Amino acid sequence: MENFESFADSFSAELPEYLEEVRGKAVLQNVPVIRRSAVGLLSFFVRMTGAVNILEVGTGTGFSALTMWEASGRKAHIITIENYEPRIKEAKINLHKEGAGEYITLLAEDATEVLKRLDTNFDMIFMDAAKGQYENWLPDVKRLLKKGGILITDNILQDGDMLKARSAVRRRDRTIHKRMQDYIFELTHDKELDTILLNTGDGMAVSGKKD
Ligand SMILES: C[S@@+](CC[C@H](N)C(=O)[O-])C[C@H]1O[C@@H](n2cnc3c(N)ncnc32)[C@H](O)[C@@H]1O
Repeated sequence: MENFESFADSFSAELPEYLEEVRGKAVLQNVPVIRRSAVGLLSFFVRMTGAVNILEVGTGTGFSALTMWEASGRKAHIITIENYEPRIKEAKINLHKEGAGEYITLLAEDATEVLKRLDTNFDMIFMDAAKGQYENWLPDVKRLLKKGGILITDNILQDGDMLKARSAVRRRDRTIHKRMQDYIFELTHDKELDTILLNTGDGMAVSGKKD
């Protein structure tokens, strides 16, 4: 599958220079950032759904938020949540590039609190933060997603660990293995959601909220 990923990447559209810089710096500093194939998938769904109100859980240094904003033709309003101070500092700088500051709002808080408090209806929600919390956040995430809206969850394969039995995973990764398994089960068995699982990047789940 790695072969397929580099094959697909070789056809992917080039990113604007400032986005390459933001991504390059994140990679250099070991800040987690979505894979290139995930850029394609996120951008595709933003364009195809015409999403203009987007929520992101897990800003990092802002690369994926800027990616979605670009894909929307620089029109989408995005709320993005990050609670790790060093990343917040860098994200604040990045999210003001190219006039994005007028559209992207960074909430520098713990996602658990923010998700409880928000009451906007979003066209799209992108989950890319603490994987072990996804299941706890799901009720609020569903409440915040409009009918017909799309929820995209990153890293559902956990670098391939999810394809192994729990006993074959390193002891320290077993809790996250179980939590991700439970979260995927919830997504795929929820009557309000229609979910597909993709092996794009580190695995992505795309869930639509039924009308
Ligand atoms: C994978 S990184 C996000 C990368 C970003 N989406 C990108 O691709 O540019 C996940 C981020 O979620 C943040 N995070 C983890 N748990 C969080 C929480 N409970 N509340 C807010 N942010 C959280 C981490 O600090 C980290 O920066």
